[in-house]
Amino acid sequence: MSPFLLTRTLPEDATDAALRADVLKGLTSTPKTLPPKWFYDAKGSELFEQITELPEYYPTRAEREILVDRAHEIAAVTGARTLVELGSGSSEKTRYVIEALTRLHTYVPVDVSESALAQAGHALVEERPELAVHALIADFTGGLALPDTPGPRLLAFLGGTIGNLLPEERAAFLTSVRALLSPGDALLLGTDLVKDERVLVQAYDDAAGVTAAFNKNVMAVINRELGADFALDAFDHVALWDADREWVEMRLRSRRAQTVKVPALGLAVEFAAGEELRTEVSAKFRRDGVRAELAAAGLELAHWWTDSEERFALSLSVVR
Ligand code: SAH
Ligand code: AVI
Repeated sequence: MSPFLLTRTLPEDATDAALRADVLKGLTSTPKTLPPKWFYDAKGSELFEQITELPEYYPTRAEREILVDRAHEIAAVTGARTLVELGSGSSEKTRYVIEALTRLHTYVPVDVSESALAQAGHALVEERPELAVHALIADFTGGLALPDTPGPRLLAFLGGTIGNLLPEERAAFLTSVRALLSPGDALLLGTDLVKDERVLVQAYDDAAGVTAAFNKNVMAVINRELGADFALDAFDHVALWDADREWVEMRLRSRRAQTVKVPALGLAVEFAAGEELRTEVSAKFRRDGVRAELAAAGLELAHWWTDSEERFALSLSVVR
């Protein structure tokens, strides 16, 4: 049996402090916002997996198509011995890359969701007994320290999760990623692409209401962790396309005027009827924009692959 190590890089009370700080700042700002990383407790991670199977949610299928086509090329170009994956979730699509990387020694999945890491890690250990799996419970925006494993390293950031960062957060994030890489290492980046507004909005407002439940889950997390009294049915799920900023936004719209108490913060938050709280942006990209953002962080786009319908792109940058 291969080793499976699950390491928490931050103490649990640091996670708690981060949640408190984010909720305090976000719910006292105008307009109100919350960062999307707090969706992903065990229930949120499970809801996200359900989203990936919805007929309206094309990104997972489109990225899988590219990975199936290109995994061997990615393996040949990178020759990676360590695969680090940020926001790895179920690691389901990553298996195509893992299988193609014949010299792979260690897989390092990094995620804030302990339940997702544990499930994915145990499944992989069963499937690939010779592979070392060193899972890290960590925030990928918070100064990652990677284990000392053999190079070259391939750092994968799939699913289009980079689009959940705001532009200034993306720039800082890509700079920190570049700093983790040495010559011969590579970055594999998944980006969802700009497309028809109707297709985009439906992907974030599915008929079965799974995305609405995922969006509302952030309130359940704050209720449980901070003793808040959000009434989930007093808010509506909203998904809209911002054509200027080229991102989909998810919001929670208050059905009526109400006060939400957050006892752990000594906070009473007033919502006006119809007031909206932004819970996520999901930026959509174009090739030139991705190239420019990579270049600004000192990374050169070497390969750009899309699915057959050009809905999603994978780009590969190799550090010289
Ligand atoms: N890569 C997978 C999962 C995408 S869902 C896929 O393509 O299907 C986004 C994942 O990123 C979730 O598992 C979530 O827990 C994780 N995540 C979100 N914000 C994070 C952060 N700041 N640090 C680490 N992981 C994060
Ligand atoms: C993880 N991330 C890329 C997803 C997205 O599409 O932005 C999260 C998500 N939000 C709603 N549906 C899926």
